[in-house]
Amino acid sequence: MNLFQRSFHLSQFIFPNGGACLEFGVFRGGTYAYQAEHILRRYPASTLIGFDSWEGLPPETEGVWTADRHAVGKYAAPKAEVKSRLDALGIKEGDPRFRLVDGFYSDSLTPEVAASCGPLAYVNIDVDIHSSTVEVLEFIGPILRPGVILYWDDWKDPRDQADGAWGEHYAWEQWLPKQAGLEVETIEVNPLEQRSMLVTAAYGKTLASENLPTVTQIRYQAQALVEDPVKALKPRSDNDGMTALKRQIRTLPVVGAVVKKLRDR
Ligand SMILES: C[S@@+](CC[C@H](N)C(=O)[O-])C[C@H]1O[C@@H](n2cnc3c(N)ncnc32)[C@H](O)[C@@H]1O
Repeated sequence: MNLFQRSFHLSQFIFPNGGACLEFGVFRGGTYAYQAEHILRRYPASTLIGFDSWEGLPPETEGVWTADRHAVGKYAAPKAEVKSRLDALGIKEGDPRFRLVDGFYSDSLTPEVAASCGPLAYVNIDVDIHSSTVEVLEFIGPILRPGVILYWDDWKDPRDQADGAWGEHYAWEQWLPKQAGLEVETIEVNPLEQRSMLVTAAYGKTLASENLPTVTQIRYQAQALVEDPVKALKPRSDNDGMTALKRQIRTLPVVGAVVKKLRDR
């Protein structure tokens, strides 16, 4: 199991009652189909929304260094290819759990589309270049919540040698300091510099206030996915079911107020 796959499964551990998985950069649908298959088989309460121009990469931000392999139009692929993958999985056209949003992000990433996504669980950022990442971050910023996992496919690919900042990591470094109250921790980084991050606080909410697993529990699940994915993905035991039930009970307003009082003492 690779880091992209682990971070997707980790998000579903954090949100056992489901959440929206957003994929920026679908191309031929390899990673989209992986998530779709697992949503069908294991995580039926989750949804998946893919965003792509189908015309490949747009121009990079003026003045920002870019690799030759990120030329305009690179990774153009017909949407039909993705649709036939979904068809092979038995996903019916019009199944509301699986959506594809067409167009360049400058046109397609509107506040109306953001409002239609539903509560997020997972965001796969695989757009390669700075200009696209800037647009993705502007779009997801207002809808982030504690517990969301962000996966970065091209954070700082070691093939790309250039002085200074460029690409996905540069967009993040410019954007994050401007997000008051947003707290994020890196969970895992691999030798290719791909990485997963966990939103720990956003808009006054925290993992604890949302009755989500703690950072430690999430890190241990991330490690379990590395060491023994088959075991880590086993259906939850009764004990896990009890934990989920207890968490749900804590979300009831009266119980939540009592728990908060006890915590504040
Ligand atoms: C590297 S490919 C994605 C690969 C895919 N996640 C996979 O692993 O199979 C990058 C994709 O991002 C899309 N893309 C990048 N910037 C975009 C933008 N600003 N608007 C729309 N699509 C964009 C490209 O069209 C391309 O299909």
